[in-house]
Amino acid sequence: MSTQESYPIDVEAIRADFPILDRTVGGDVTTPGESSEDTEPLVYLDNGATSQTPRPVVEAIVDYYYGYNANVHRGIHQLSQEASVAYEEAHDRVAEFINAEGREEIVFTKNTTESMNLVAYAWGLEELGPGDSVITTQMEHHASLVTWQQICKRTGAEIRFIEVDENGRLDMDHAAELIDESTEMVSLVHVSNTLGTVNPVAEITEMAHDVGAYAFVDGAQAVPTRPVDVAAIDADFYAFSGHKMLGPTGIGVLYGKEAILESMQPYLYGGDMIRKVTYEDSTWEDLPWKFEAGTPNIAQAVGLHAAIDYLDDIGMANVQAHEELLAEYAYDRLSDHDDVEIYGPPGDDRGGLVAFNVDGVHAHDLSSILNDYAVAIRAGDHCTQPLHDTLGTAASARASFYIYNTREEIDALVEAVDSARQLFG
Ligand code: ALA
Repeated sequence: MSTQESYPIDVEAIRADFPILDRTVGGDVTTPGESSEDTEPLVYLDNGATSQTPRPVVEAIVDYYYGYNANVHRGIHQLSQEASVAYEEAHDRVAEFINAEGREEIVFTKNTTESMNLVAYAWGLEELGPGDSVITTQMEHHASLVTWQQICKRTGAEIRFIEVDENGRLDMDHAAELIDESTEMVSLVHVSNTLGTVNPVAEITEMAHDVGAYAFVDGAQAVPTRPVDVAAIDADFYAFSGHKMLGPTGIGVLYGKEAILESMQPYLYGGDMIRKVTYEDSTWEDLPWKFEAGTPNIAQAVGLHAAIDYLDDIGMANVQAHEELLAEYAYDRLSDHDDVEIYGPPGDDRGGLVAFNVDGVHAHDLSSILNDYAVAIRAGDHCTQPLHDTLGTAASARASFYIYNTREEIDALVEAVDSARQLFG
């Protein structure tokens, strides 16, 4: 069996769509996009932070700017109509991709963080108060943790954290203890960006609904890497970002159940989100436009549409299989070393990332040495400082994989880790 045949997807053909994978890195940083001498082929393993962008997505954005660039919803001129159709169709495509009921349930934001803040401000500030609780988990990204923490401070609601067990999984008994009649919101991450844990989001959503609370799922690491069906999960809100799923930066998604979004006040006020304005008062546009004030990210929406088409062509079940294959391979290869500590569940039960530390080598030093070998990973707290405190470390190194990554690139990672180990004795 050749290496190529042993993948669930055609990695070679996919890689050909990503020109950036042909460049070299590792020398001095000179002009962005250019390599100095003595550099090596890029091994890009920082996909949890942002993914690379294939030609069809870039081309869709170029087609928009060269062919029908105009503002949406305002003009009756042809370009504006074409831009509006493309912008609205992007909502429809996202709805179809995650099995929402329609565009009314898809609000475009800047990113997952803004989606989270939209709900926290538009729903949380209005509805939460003393005596209420918001339940979240120890493994939340700051996007969720800081947002609910601060909204709870402002409203007098209590925030509680479901504990993570020694295998990096949620303690479901603790979840059952914490989610009670005081609970108004349960907000949790679908796939942890640090542990790689895949959380039982449908089960937790059901626990939230049993006490009359809403459930919010942060799907930033999930939607890019596995099939996600919001109807099956039954979450009230679900958020993710375009730039982690082959799309451009500057576009995020908030899915919300239509009746709940209808009941909420706007988050941002201004143009495009109103229906009728007088000096005294205003009324709001239909969903989702009520939550999309001002000129939106039109080109980014077009790019996200193209990114979804690209992923759907591969098939999300195949994307997930590839992610799992690489995560298990990386986990096994790194576990061969006694001085490597890997955080989170076992290799055969995790999303496509591995966070780890090498004894005696700070994660930042490791990342810097890996960069000399052209291996790009993330080092630091990955926007999960409290989780790192719980893990007993200030920082970790994280390799995160995507559709264009190969076992050979993980071998390059492990070899570079070996070199760092030798350097630090
Ligand atoms: N949230 C992104 C990450 O985990 C940036 O790297």
